[in-house]
Amino acid sequence: MMTITNADKRTNLICLTVAIGGLLFGFDTAVISGAVGLIKTQYLLDTTREGWFVSSGLVGCIAGVLVAGMLSDRIGRKRTILVSALAFFISGIGCGFAGGFAELVTARIVGGVGVGMASVISPMLIAEFAPADRRGRMIAYYQLAITVGILLAYCSDAFFVATVAREAWRPMFVAMAVPSVVFVLLLLRVPESPRWLVARGRKDKALEVLNRLRPMVVAEKEYAQIVGAAVRDTDRRVSLAMVRMPLLIGILLAVFQQFSGINAIIYYGPSIFEAAGIGGSNALIFQVIIGVINMLFTIVAIRWSDKYGRKFLLTTGLSGIVLSLVLCGVLFYTGHTQGIFLLVLLLLYIACFAFSLGPVTWIIINEIFPTPVRVRAVAVCTMALWIAVWVVGQFFPWMLAKMGAAVTFWLFAGFSLANFVFSWRVVKETRGKTLEEMEEVFVAPH
Ligand code: BGC
Repeated sequence: MMTITNADKRTNLICLTVAIGGLLFGFDTAVISGAVGLIKTQYLLDTTREGWFVSSGLVGCIAGVLVAGMLSDRIGRKRTILVSALAFFISGIGCGFAGGFAELVTARIVGGVGVGMASVISPMLIAEFAPADRRGRMIAYYQLAITVGILLAYCSDAFFVATVAREAWRPMFVAMAVPSVVFVLLLLRVPESPRWLVARGRKDKALEVLNRLRPMVVAEKEYAQIVGAAVRDTDRRVSLAMVRMPLLIGILLAVFQQFSGINAIIYYGPSIFEAAGIGGSNALIFQVIIGVINMLFTIVAIRWSDKYGRKFLLTTGLSGIVLSLVLCGVLFYTGHTQGIFLLVLLLLYIACFAFSLGPVTWIIINEIFPTPVRVRAVAVCTMALWIAVWVVGQFFPWMLAKMGAAVTFWLFAGFSLANFVFSWRVVKETRGKTLEEMEEVFVAPH
């Protein structure tokens, strides 16, 4: 049995704290589902303005990814994530007290900036704190937090709709300010990343942090490895061009994650059930069931990503994803959508996503790049992910209307099959390696 030291507990707690960035990400992206209908009615939005309102968060997100990529090497990971927490707070309060539609959109953009920044820095900072043999588990905390955030947003939206008679959308947004404040307060106790400190020449401070996070002998060994890698990286002037292969892997995994149709199914799930004749007034219940399954199955990744490896989870999960999507398509094609089968297949899909594509995509993106280019490279991959979110969001309703549900599901299945082959043949296993050992596998020699 593995013995858990105080240093282990401390590292665990720090990674859990940083993962709250994921909770705010999930909350911010899901809160809109309950608010948009109310806002549309109140401000008499036409479809263009409604579309703008929903996508304004994504615009902020893209800006946030860019800002995180530029800021974090300069001011540090910790300060950057504090800025993101602040953005969530301002957005929650700003939306909740907005005087008109323009203010509402502006505050949504600020929230999007928070999401974009957190989606780059949270998992990356966790990767930099985590010991090699538990890094998968700890980055999966971030995915778990996203799913908790989504679920919390659904529940709080439902609560305010049921209890607030006028403008229930206002408290829905203000609710986000609460976890933001908690996040800021907890972050104050999180140290700066030892890898960033070494990169900035603050070696003593880095060793001090490592001594808090690891048993002493382990801390010294890891410190020597980090310093060694920093010297090597300076000598060979590591650049983005030298990490072409991991960049390609990261970008493709990010895009494939979204082209599996996850957000279409999470957010349009209830309308899919309704279209199939099994929704009606139960839409919210279905949404909550989807959210709970999404959350629970992420725990499998927390337990297994370091034990059985990333590739095992990816390929097993993707097999289930392809199977469930193909069968969903068959149900729609043959018109057998009434009844329990569709629900079971969509839940199978969500469960498989939750233990594979969801967490493992974030795990791999955040562990395959060397420190000098890590934040820039992670930002590029994360940007690809957000652009893919936008593409699916824009085209899913159009695809449903023009091509029909069956073909849409099969298209998602096709992308996931491509991801399966890619993950099986091209992606390299990263389990158990330190970030510095990983450099030897991934960085091309000039
Ligand atoms: C994805 C999000 C998705 C979430 C669902 C994340 O890994 O990046 O787009 O909404 O999982 O749990």
